[in-house]
Amino acid sequence: MYPLRRNRRLRSNEVIRGLVRETILSPDDFLVPLFVTEGSNVKEEIASMPGYYRYSPDLLEKEVKELFRMGLRSVLLFVKVPDNLKDNRGTEALNPDGLMQRAVKTVKNAVPDMLVMTDVALDPYSGYGHDGVVENGIIQNDESVDILTEMALSHALAGADFVAPSDMMDGRILSMREALEEEGLTQTGIMSYSAKYASAFYGPFRDALDSAPVDKQGIPKDKKTYQMDYANRIEALRETEMDIDEGADIVMVKPGLCYLDIVRDIKNEFDVPLAVYQVSGEYAMIKAASEKGWLDHDTVIMEQLTAIKRAGADIIASYFAKDAIRLMK
Ligand code: PBG
Repeated sequence: MYPLRRNRRLRSNEVIRGLVRETILSPDDFLVPLFVTEGSNVKEEIASMPGYYRYSPDLLEKEVKELFRMGLRSVLLFVKVPDNLKDNRGTEALNPDGLMQRAVKTVKNAVPDMLVMTDVALDPYSGYGHDGVVENGIIQNDESVDILTEMALSHALAGADFVAPSDMMDGRILSMREALEEEGLTQTGIMSYSAKYASAFYGPFRDALDSAPVDKQGIPKDKKTYQMDYANRIEALRETEMDIDEGADIVMVKPGLCYLDIVRDIKNEFDVPLAVYQVSGEYAMIKAASEKGWLDHDTVIMEQLTAIKRAGADIIASYFAKDAIRLMK
């Protein structure tokens, strides 16, 4: 007549819900993306990412101290490169005194226990906004890998704990791992953006770094010849397996929300730690809708971040990391 099992018993108040909750966010889950720009005393809000900023190195120092105080322990650095330093081969990326190399040292000096990861890709350094070298309208794989490998070494020598190649060229993980080993940088890790999709959700990030791919002289305006087709699932497993075989310590799925099926597939299939990047467009959507009063900012953030962890993320790269810490309390 009546159900023997009433599932609502386990939902009847916050205490019992807390006891049976399966997924709990922790400050340790978060990796904080940070945008660095030249100058001093610069804190610029990114137009399409309200509440998120680019910092000059001096203010970056303040920011990482604050993050550390809040309980956040790892950062992922990106740099905005001035136009006059951009070229097709990303020459500035290898400058030992370039913005990224200085930013790594700034963070490490300010907070030695902060784990520092660096973005490795040519797009912020490229006049074309592409992650690799462009020739005759084609993004060159092997030539790009050689430069990206030098770039990874340069970041490691500056003091990065992990390099994070986000370029999606073939073979770059193996090339970087071998080069790091040869230099004796055996403790420098690689977090590979292994299943990175050609997504429209990167738009605000490209505003942040002024790195949108351009359409001049037949140069492709999208990244579909190297980033993955969002229609594909099996391909993500193949990409991930190859990166693990080539030596990746951590693999990644990016973006987050639209790709949680891929996150779960990879989690079920492989045993290396998995990062998920909740990207700029996902941040912008929540900001825009909540500014209009159409969504509740804080509740939606926690729902999405918890869903990412529930799907299988061990690490979450998110622009909402500070909000998450506030809301966990
Ligand atoms: C570039 C890179 C991108 C992001 C991280 N690294 C953009 C792109 O591939 O065009 C996107 C991050 C975000 O949208 O938050 N190598």
